[in-house]
Amino acid sequence: MKALILTGSPRKNGNTEILTAAVAQELQANNVSLRLQRLAELNINPCLGCGSCEKEGNCVIDDDMQPLYPRIIGADIIIIASPIYFYGLTAQTKAFVDRCQALWSRKYILKQQFPADKQRKGYLISVAATRGTQVFTGAKLCARYVFDAMDVLYDGGLFYPGVDSRGAIRKHPDFPGKAAEFVQRILRNA
Ligand SMILES: Cc1cc2nc3c(=O)[nH]c(=O)nc-3n(C[C@H](O)[C@H](O)[C@H](O)COP(=O)(O)O)c2cc1C
Repeated sequence: MKALILTGSPRKNGNTEILTAAVAQELQANNVSLRLQRLAELNINPCLGCGSCEKEGNCVIDDDMQPLYPRIIGADIIIIASPIYFYGLTAQTKAFVDRCQALWSRKYILKQQFPADKQRKGYLISVAATRGTQVFTGAKLCARYVFDAMDVLYDGGLFYPGVDSRGAIRKHPDFPGKAAEFVQRILRNA
């Protein structure tokens, strides 16, 4: 089983990355082969809305998003990890999401099949400083729809509210327990 994990916080070794590392370790301990990529290290330009991808399903922007397309298509499990910024995903994550419009075009305009033996699954990992009931709502909706464009079923995620300063996740009472449970759920549903 192959997992692709994309982390979208610009803060290195921050809460998202600590959490994601715990999840990655647990996945590897269960023989899942994984590729972890920090989106902030890549040059991913915003979607131009030019519609070129509607012709052949390919994006015309030549940047670091290009090698990600085959990795997305080749993964059995995709995890997007982003802290909440203004009730949504970070700009780095959102740029990635918007560039998945090329995959949306393949699926919905060109009616191309995504080669897969079985239903691939997608998950969102997120942290936020506050604890409002809606704090993850925008990010969850965005994740659900980008996973749909990838022909991946959004299967929920791992969410930690009330986490702000760098490393605060380590003091959270549900860390790392909830992360380990999350991985077990991924494996059960795979
Ligand atoms: C630009 C910016 C916007 C933010 N917006 C929100 C927000 O809308 N709601 C919230 O609860 N926390 C918000 N936060 C706090 C982060 O979600 C929080 O600090 C998180 O733990 C950062 O994760 P990281 O360490 O992985 O970068 C914001 C932080 C920044 C820098």
